[in-house]
Amino acid sequence: MNKIRNIFSVLLLSWVVMVYANAQEVTKIAPGVWKVSYGSPEKYRPTDFKEAASAALTKMPDQEKAPFPVDEIKFSRISKGTVAEFKIDKSEKIYGFGLQINTFEQSACRREIRTSSGVSGSSGDYHPSPLGDLGFSHAPMPFYISSKGYGVLINTSRYVTFYMGSQHKLDQTVALKHFVGGGSKASASIEDLYNRNYKSSDEVEVLVDGAQGMEMIIFDGPTLKNVIERYNLFSGGGGIPPIWGLGFKYRAKTDFTYKEVINFTRYFRENKIPCDMFGLEPGWQSSSYSCSYAWNKRNYPNPDSILNVIQGMNYKLNLWEHAYVHPTSPIFDSIVPYSGDFAVWKGAVPDFIMPQARRIFGEYHRNNLIKKGISAFKLDECDAAYYDEAHGEWSFPDIAKFPSGVDGEQMRQIFGLLYQKTLWNEFKKENKRTFLEARASYLFASPYCSALYSDMYSPFDYVTMVTNSGFAGVNWSPEVRQTKSVDDLIRRMQNSLMSSHMSVDCWFLKNLPWFQFDRSKNNNGEFLPDYKQIEQKVRKLVELRMRLIPYLYAAFAKYHYEGTPPFRALVVDYPDDPEVWRLDKQYMMGDNIMCAPFIEGVSEREVYFPKGIWYDFNTNKKYEGGKKYTIQMTLDQIPMFIKEGTILPLAKPVEFITPETVFEVNCKVYGKPANDMRLFEDDGFTFNFEKGNYNWLDLSWNGKKGLVKRSGNFRKKLFNISAWEKID
Ligand code: GAL
Repeated sequence: MNKIRNIFSVLLLSWVVMVYANAQEVTKIAPGVWKVSYGSPEKYRPTDFKEAASAALTKMPDQEKAPFPVDEIKFSRISKGTVAEFKIDKSEKIYGFGLQINTFEQSACRREIRTSSGVSGSSGDYHPSPLGDLGFSHAPMPFYISSKGYGVLINTSRYVTFYMGSQHKLDQTVALKHFVGGGSKASASIEDLYNRNYKSSDEVEVLVDGAQGMEMIIFDGPTLKNVIERYNLFSGGGGIPPIWGLGFKYRAKTDFTYKEVINFTRYFRENKIPCDMFGLEPGWQSSSYSCSYAWNKRNYPNPDSILNVIQGMNYKLNLWEHAYVHPTSPIFDSIVPYSGDFAVWKGAVPDFIMPQARRIFGEYHRNNLIKKGISAFKLDECDAAYYDEAHGEWSFPDIAKFPSGVDGEQMRQIFGLLYQKTLWNEFKKENKRTFLEARASYLFASPYCSALYSDMYSPFDYVTMVTNSGFAGVNWSPEVRQTKSVDDLIRRMQNSLMSSHMSVDCWFLKNLPWFQFDRSKNNNGEFLPDYKQIEQKVRKLVELRMRLIPYLYAAFAKYHYEGTPPFRALVVDYPDDPEVWRLDKQYMMGDNIMCAPFIEGVSEREVYFPKGIWYDFNTNKKYEGGKKYTIQMTLDQIPMFIKEGTILPLAKPVEFITPETVFEVNCKVYGKPANDMRLFEDDGFTFNFEKGNYNWLDLSWNGKKGLVKRSGNFRKKLFNISAWEKID
């Protein structure tokens, strides 16, 4: 009897141990942030690379209980990896999964979180399109946000697949059988045959490939906006660009020599078209694909004196590169021991997890380029593009091994993020702010001031990406290259203006795109007869961008201090309005401007206005919210609408920004101002604001005149409020 009892106790104990080992552990890790762990943790998780959370996180609303029934999540290990299963309410709207390309509201979708962007070009021109609708992207993220006011993040750099109610379990069919009876119906149409009219389920399944466990992070709201803010503050707060980073950028053709570069930089100054940043493409290096990070002395015989000339014209110079190190590079020998075992374009792939690799790569950049005056870099090819090509060498394979112990799959997901972090830290050491461009990013990227860009070129996708960028803590650059027509050029320039990064990337165009929009004619030097008139339109647009700088700078300061994304979907600000739940072709730029881009040269589109009164920026015509309107606009009008109650600061455009620049600001007061406008004022170039060296400028309207209250420790002025204009 005793023996039986003993056996029974041992069995019971092992069952308890098994259940305990398989159960999830829930820990609160920050205000409104919970960690749910199951199974064995991965050696490196994305939180290991993130910056410290912002102190402002402690000021956010907090509660004891997680906003989501974390104990009901069913975790299991299968041979393919680790799975989590739970229910969602079918009425929930789902957003996020990083910088998604062609979907917006994501319920009932399968999302495969894998870093990879466009596929090969079509019709001989250079505009690849995204690889289907899989969830792949430049910055895919295992992180979604629910309209119910919570967010779910999987803390892994392995591939993750989410089935957001897109699959049906067999037991649902079994249950259904009792209702529909046994008879089957012959299919009337192809839709019926393939069951295309399917309905979503309430089941969510999440699979982390190859992992022995899963770590989930839950973010509380209570509002959708609070979830995003909490995520950004947990990541370290949004990065504030140097103030010049909000100006205009031009990138020159890849094989330009210094003479052509100097001609172009002179062009902007002589023609009084504002331009702050000038970008050099691969040809500046002695080797690119893979990269040497050393000057090509044939095209740039005396880099120091060229830099002096360009900087003398007040440009900030940006250099293109990628992270695959060519054998002729001065850092090749030292980086090889800290690189993966596969090469890309015959270059070594640094393991940016290793401090040694970050030091070698970073210090070289700081000593040889940043200290010489380079203001930013374009971090190309880190997104494992062209996955559809069988023979292309666009990345290392999943089987690659890196010295830190991660494999190619894990490195692929975080490569772009760690690349940004490595260089951003070098700028930080120099106390110099930068605005990088990057082709890949991942979780917790908000503090690194970068803009993502692409070889894809659909203006429809570009607008959706601006809208989606706000769910992901990234900036998106809908850059302009060749176009189909003058109308397409102007509309694309407008869309770039209404984004975080206004950029014309002429890496394959010999001449300005407003001299000739068509690629081959441009390169043949065939200019449009009216190119001077088109140039005038372009100048006006760039000037408008410069006028918006104080407003945009304030929006980025809010991103930093409160986590509010400067560019965001309307659903973030108006979560109770069903009309905006699926609206991805309109977005908020800051708190007060709604943008409704016109795409592909059209002159008319439907615009939905949320509650309140909205003013057309061009004509001051008023629209009553809660309705849709068909809006017509000429090419000289920009589709921006100002919320009633706004004090809109507009600067006198300057041609470029220096540390001495003081913006003359005119405030437009729309209707009865409900709220003050807060401008952020600091030196615009350094990180001194992090030590408290900044001011807030509170702008208000007392019914008759405008008032300015300046508070803070910054002794100089960035803004001079010189005029007020009332608009009724
Ligand atoms: C592409 C990049 C372009 C351009 C080009 C140069 O991959 O997206 O913007 O820089 O490389 O080779």
